[in-house]
Amino acid sequence: MPRVLSCIQPTGVVHLGNYLGALRTWVSGQHECDAFHGIVDLHALTVTDRPGVLGTSTLELAATLFAVGLDPDVATVFVQSHVPEHAQLGWVMECTVSYGELSRMTQFKDKSAKREADFISAGLFTYPALQAADILLYDADEVPVGEDQRQHIEITRDIAMRFNGRFGKTFVVPKIITPRAGAKVTDLQEPTAKMSKSAASDSGIVYLLDEPSAIIKKFKRAVTDSDGEVRFDRTEKPGISNLLEILAACTGRTPEQTAAGYTQYGPLKADAGEAVVDVLTPIQHRYRELMGDQAELSRLLRVGADKARSVASATLARTYSNIGLLSAE
Ligand code: TYM
Repeated sequence: MPRVLSCIQPTGVVHLGNYLGALRTWVSGQHECDAFHGIVDLHALTVTDRPGVLGTSTLELAATLFAVGLDPDVATVFVQSHVPEHAQLGWVMECTVSYGELSRMTQFKDKSAKREADFISAGLFTYPALQAADILLYDADEVPVGEDQRQHIEITRDIAMRFNGRFGKTFVVPKIITPRAGAKVTDLQEPTAKMSKSAASDSGIVYLLDEPSAIIKKFKRAVTDSDGEVRFDRTEKPGISNLLEILAACTGRTPEQTAAGYTQYGPLKADAGEAVVDVLTPIQHRYRELMGDQAELSRLLRVGADKARSVASATLARTYSNIGLLSAE
C-alpha cells in the first residue's frame, strides 16, 4: 500500500481550488493508500503576526477536512506543531538545500513581491525546506497536490536525493500526484490567475462555506470572453476553460466532453454553479455538525498526532543516525 502525505495551511477559508486540486484526491485515495494529512500551522507562521488566530483556524480546518470526507479511522489527520519532528527535520533540510535553489522558488518571489514593503520573514524564504521535512518524515511515495505545488515537490525530491547521496539511503524520493481535472482552478474574475486565499478581492473566489446563492452569483458573474464559442482551450479561452474544468471535476467527466454539451455561455455558467452547490451543500452540513463538538475534534487531532509521531520519530532517529550525530543514549 503506497504511503501518501499532503498538507494544507490554516490560513483563510478553504476554497474550491483547495478542494478540487487537493482535498478531493485525499478523500478518494484514503482507502487505497496509507494516508497522512497535516494542517501545517508552522508554515502559516511565515505570514502570521497576530496572536490567537492560528489555533481557531486550525480547528476550523480540521472540521473542514473531516467534513469533506477524510475518515479519522482510516486517514491520519494531524497538526504540524503537535509533531515536533517537523521543525527538527526542517533544520536538517535547510542544511541540505542551497541558497540558490531557494532563491529560484517562484512562490517565494510572488509572495515576497506581494508583501512589498511589509515584513518578509526568513521563514518565507526557507519554507520549502520545512515542506520537504513534512513529506520526507513520512517516507511518502506520493504527494497529492494542486499544480502550484509542483516546484515544491521537485525541490523535495532534489533534497532527498542529495541527502541520500551524502549520508546513505535515508529518504523515499516522492512523486507528485495531480488530479486530471481541477489541478489549477483559476479566479472567476481573473481567469489567468490561480484561485488563491491571498487574492485582493473575494468576488472570484468560491469558498467551501459560501451560501448557495452566493456561489450561483459568483458563477453568473464569471469573466469569460466575447467570441461566444464554448471550447476547452486554456490559453485562448481561460475563463470558459476554467468553468468547463470545474464542471468536469464536479461531474467526473473531462473538460472536452463537458464542452460538447454547450453552445452558449449562460447555461454553462448556471450548470457549473449548480454542480458546485450540489457538491458543497452536504460538506457544509457536516462542517456545522462537526464544529458543534470541538472537544471531539481536538481528541481526533490528538489521536492523529500520536500516529504521526510514531512514524516521524523513527525517520528523524534514522536521519540523525545516518548523519552520525552522537547519540544521547
Ligand atoms: P495550500 O495551503 O496553499 O493549499 C492546499 C492545497 O490546495 C491546492 N491548491 C489548489 N489546487 C488547485 N487550484 C487552486 N487554485 C489551488 N490553490 C491551492 C494546493 O496545491 C495544495 O495541494 N505549501 C503547501 C502546504 C504544504 C504541503 C506540505 C503540501 C506544506 N507542507 C507537504 C504537500 C506536502 C501550501 O501552501 O498549500
